[in-house]
Amino acid sequence: MTMQPWFTEAKLGILVHWGIYAVDGVAESWSFFGGDLTRDAYMRQLDGFTASGYRPDDWALLFRRAEAKYAVLTAKHHDGVALWDTRRTDLSTAASTPAGRDLVGPFADAMRRQGLHVGLYFSHCDWSHPDYPSIRPSSLHRPWVDNRYAMPAPGDEDPARWERYLEQVHRGQIHELLHAYRPDLLWFDGAWERDERQWRMKELREEILRLRPDTVLNGRMLGYGDYATPELGVPIVRPEGPWELCYTIGDAWGYQPGDAHHKSVRELVRVFAETIGHGGNLLLNTGPMEDGTIPPEHADRLAGLGGWIRRNRDAVHGTMAGLPYGHHYGPSLISEDRRTLFLVCFDAPRFFTELRGLRNAVLSVSVLGTGEELGHRVVGGFPSRGVPGVVRINAPVLCDPYATVIALELDGEIELYRGSGEG
Ligand code: GLC
Repeated sequence: MTMQPWFTEAKLGILVHWGIYAVDGVAESWSFFGGDLTRDAYMRQLDGFTASGYRPDDWALLFRRAEAKYAVLTAKHHDGVALWDTRRTDLSTAASTPAGRDLVGPFADAMRRQGLHVGLYFSHCDWSHPDYPSIRPSSLHRPWVDNRYAMPAPGDEDPARWERYLEQVHRGQIHELLHAYRPDLLWFDGAWERDERQWRMKELREEILRLRPDTVLNGRMLGYGDYATPELGVPIVRPEGPWELCYTIGDAWGYQPGDAHHKSVRELVRVFAETIGHGGNLLLNTGPMEDGTIPPEHADRLAGLGGWIRRNRDAVHGTMAGLPYGHHYGPSLISEDRRTLFLVCFDAPRFFTELRGLRNAVLSVSVLGTGEELGHRVVGGFPSRGVPGVVRINAPVLCDPYATVIALELDGEIELYRGSGEG
């Protein structure tokens, strides 16, 4: 699988969970699935969804200020409510809400106008469609999926209805999205209720790529996607291959008025630096209110993260995953020509920063954002045995409010010592 270069170069994307769940501020789809409220009460939110202040150009400007390179909108979540004028079901913002229109098209156009790549989130499962709960998977890995919105009772299976769901709704709506909006990325979710054979994931992948060969597919295709999608926690061990961490600013994905634990810009900068230092992208989520307003607390965080990225642009763009563990106590990045090393320091260095196991000579050391040159010297080591000393870098006078990045120009492509110290 070859990955589209724009995706791995992007580093930051914005995920937008927008849907009727923002009307009452309840959990997206899960609130009726889990029985917190009845499906009728959940669906009454259709009547309150106006999108009256929807200005996707403002979203796009904000996402640009955040320095994001792509944005992903929930075209359809597990609740089955499409945000575009689908012909496949009667459940959409166009047909069933006062908004009365397609919201995906204006999103895609606005993002493209600002130079962002367009991603669409699409739930494989549809907890509203009568044909969806028609077959059971070969094994139920997650007992909680045995729910009337997802599964027929054992013995009540109807493969013909499943075929109809796959053909009319699943494939049908994916086709609509591909044709109408030409997404650069299809961000799937909700595959866990069937197995990959039942979904015919292999064929789905082939079909999408036949229609639009450049589409990036996220990993939630049971083995047939392009990249891994860890959720809510930075991986401890660096994943192999391309990957993207999806992460919330508050605790919830969709807008919930009580969701007040907004991560600070400092926390978000950390997660971002850890993610890109391991070679991943961060897909940071926001949940607009029903009228389309992005909560101001989220907008502030996005702008703050963008400020950090601009100050430290050289470390973020045109770089790849940094050093393996043991060399620097924090994330790091390496320039594509492998001649510049960027060390991210979360806490302002007070005395010095140390770098271990570097074989290269260091030509110069400076701080991103301020350009301050830092003195350094090499301490210890056993050169005749090839054991490099420690590069000890003086502390900067001015540090970044969130995370200071120190750039080291090397005398050639980076070479690391990974030995035990015995030469
Ligand atoms: C989970 C949830 C969902 C959310 C998604 C984002 O899979 O089902 O509500 O959209 O995570 O990654």
